[in-house]
Amino acid sequence: MDPYVQIFENNKAWVQSKLAVDKQFFRNLAKDQKPHYLYIGCSDSRVPANVMMGLDEGEVFVHRNVANLVVGADNNINAVIQFGVEFLKIQHIIVCGHYDCGGVKAAMHPTDMGQLNSWLQHIRDVYRIHQKELDGIEDSHRKYDRLVELNVIEQCVNIAKIDHVQRKWFKTGYPKIHAWVYDLHNGLLKELDMNLEAYFSSIRKIYDLNIPDE
Ligand code: CO
Repeated sequence: MDPYVQIFENNKAWVQSKLAVDKQFFRNLAKDQKPHYLYIGCSDSRVPANVMMGLDEGEVFVHRNVANLVVGADNNINAVIQFGVEFLKIQHIIVCGHYDCGGVKAAMHPTDMGQLNSWLQHIRDVYRIHQKELDGIEDSHRKYDRLVELNVIEQCVNIAKIDHVQRKWFKTGYPKIHAWVYDLHNGLLKELDMNLEAYFSSIRKIYDLNIPDE
């Protein structure tokens, strides 16, 4: 069968498998969504958010783009984060990068990628911020892995720069922001050692929006 046509067969089989366990599955799912997590990850086809987290439909609010970037001028991600935090009341935001990320690799090399140049520039900025550490790593693969990690951490910082996140963060301590990396070679998730509160307090005078306590 044509692999494209096969998708619809797969879909019917999936619907049947869900209904076999719970006849009300779709009726209940359609009522509302109350996800506990906002997942921001790479578009890479090998990193499926719900599947690797072992979570079901309705449990994760997902945003994916090339190299899991949180860009201040990106209306798309701003809308996702605001909707997630303010309307869905999500208390945990996860930024998940992955080793062997093609976007990060492209940004490490002097290559003209056309339309992608301006997007990858944000990863080059992460390199610039951490140039001293990265230039000190001789092994090129280790350097690549470390840039993947630092890129995740800097995207977490970018979330803390957002006005409505700051408003809620300073008042309630939420949303908690988590930095993860997924390893394509063994399927395992790793939580990065990141003290965002300490990191952000060291740069708060730059990014503080002077939001008054309510
Ligand atoms: Co990637």
